[in-house]
Amino acid sequence: MTQDELKTLVGQAALHYVTPNSIVGVGTGSTVDKFIDALAASGLPIAGAVSSSVRSTERMQALGIKILEAAEVESLEVYIDGADEIDHAGHMVKGGGAALTREKIVADLAKRFVCIADESKLVQTLGKFPLPVEVIPMAAAQIARRFAQRFGADAGLRAGCVTDNGNQILDVRGLAIADPAAFEAEVNQWPGVVTVGVFARNKAAVCLLGTAAGVRTLEF
Ligand code: 5RP
Repeated sequence: MTQDELKTLVGQAALHYVTPNSIVGVGTGSTVDKFIDALAASGLPIAGAVSSSVRSTERMQALGIKILEAAEVESLEVYIDGADEIDHAGHMVKGGGAALTREKIVADLAKRFVCIADESKLVQTLGKFPLPVEVIPMAAAQIARRFAQRFGADAGLRAGCVTDNGNQILDVRGLAIADPAAFEAEVNQWPGVVTVGVFARNKAAVCLLGTAAGVRTLEF
């Protein structure tokens, strides 16, 4: 199966985690696009969706899915999103699509994070994928220097990228994140960091992993 077919498979499988007539939290990315398409095609009745990006909002609206603001919702049963990396404990690296801040906000509203990914995303240790960090532009150089000093890592601005929140993304190369929760807590405190793309506090409860043998369900 191609990577695209694996994404379609897990996008479809995620429908089982959607309670009829509930409000669903929806992430961002090419795998989530498959979920959105499957949701619209399924005819499953939902009360609406809280979206994590302009991209997902536009796709859902085009397919007739009602969008609710995060501020209108106190809690969600489920948040469905992809990942750039996921480890065997459900910690993730996210933000390849630059939507990490809103993704973390919507994930935090949800009781359960269901990650949908193809098997290439499963790793032993997070950090091979360049870690996205959303930053306030005036602090970008300062934060890049701190990554070099503190972790010996190389942080570079993502060219031409402005987030939905008007900020920039640093992609950080050369990390091996042994303790994702401690790493997330530390980097989040640095002045000018809006969101670090390590999702440890808001880790996955379930991962639907697309493999050549079908969907593998990992529970954490
Ligand atoms: C966007 C994300 C995505 O979930 C992540 O980049 C995976 O994307 P894809 O499903 O296209 O591989 O974090 O900010």
